Amino acid sequence: MERTFLAIKPDGVQRGLVGDIIRRFENKGFTLVGLKFTKVSRELAEQHYDVHKERPFFGNLVGFITSGPVVAMVWEGDGVVTTARKMIGATNPLTAELGTIRGDFGINIGRNLIHGSDAIETAQREIALWFKDEELVGWQPHLTPWLHE
Ligand code: RTP
Ligand code: MG
Repeated sequence: MERTFLAIKPDGVQRGLVGDIIRRFENKGFTLVGLKFTKVSRELAEQHYDVHKERPFFGNLVGFITSGPVVAMVWEGDGVVTTARKMIGATNPLTAELGTIRGDFGINIGRNLIHGSDAIETAQREIALWFKDEELVGWQPHLTPWLHE
């Protein structure tokens, strides 16, 4: 089953949006298989955003993601990587569609509330970076027959 890595960033936590954001993925029908509330180390932040290490905003990005607690999650379901990105919306909240998380709650690219893996391979790398195998819980929700033929 396909899995993705999502993280509610420090701005989402500080603004009290954790419940609302999680509710959207529950309501959609995806399954939560991993969850931790954690303060990110500089080392983890630099590894997570390694792909951006040459970009001018890298320092700010690492500084921000380590500035307060985040909610790190793994979600499971058919097409979850692509659909979660659609639900999150464009990187810049000002151009993100209304109805997406960033479009509904944000106005600044450096305060865009939530991270989502951008591809299946990225998701696998990020899940392994943030979670140990034993921290992920495979389970079968009772709702399954009402969500799948
Ligand atoms: P994320 O990785 O956080 O889910 O965001 P994303 O895929 O939509 O965007 P990405 O290109 O991976 O950029 C990672 C984060 O860097 C910040 N950023 N700032 N100032 C800028 O031009 C700029 N560009 C990107 C954003 O906070 C973005 O989420
Ligand atoms: Mg990204």
